[in-house]
Amino acid sequence: MDLRALALIGALAAGPAAAQGEAPAPSPEAGRKAYTSYCARCHGLNLVVSGGAFFDLRRFPADDKARFLQSVSKGLRAMPAWEGIVKPEQIESIWLYIGSVNGWPAPGTQSASTSTQAQ
Ligand code: HEC
Repeated sequence: MDLRALALIGALAAGPAAAQGEAPAPSPEAGRKAYTSYCARCHGLNLVVSGGAFFDLRRFPADDKARFLQSVSKGLRAMPAWEGIVKPEQIESIWLYIGSVNGWPAPGTQSASTSTQAQ
């Protein structure tokens, strides 16, 4: 059984309100799907970017979520703005997904992030 089926069962079990909801709680798995739909054509599958013109998301600073949210929502130079296309929960999920690929500390253990950024 795939994860989508499991998620559907979970949503059904949680009741009609949850089953209707288009916005499941942010998760790396949801982020992977959204990333693959909206971002991978420029930023590459699994964040592996193929050309120099696109930002390499494996190098995005783990401690600058505010910049991520700003750039993704409003766009940055050649990057389109995603506000209104990608839902805020999906952007949140994409952030978690990028963190999971990059091996960032899980949310809630952010206090360690200052010591991991040796720049
Ligand atoms: C049409 C191609 C394209 C798509 C699709 C795209 N991006 Fe980008 N993205 C770019 C380019 C080009 C840059 C570099 C912008 C610059 O610095 O001039 C960029 C930069 C970024 C940055 C770095 C911003 C910063 O502050 O330096 C982030 C984060 C990012 N993209 C996330 C995303 C996410 C998340 C998605 C999917 C929702 C996405 N991008 C989809 C082209 C794209």
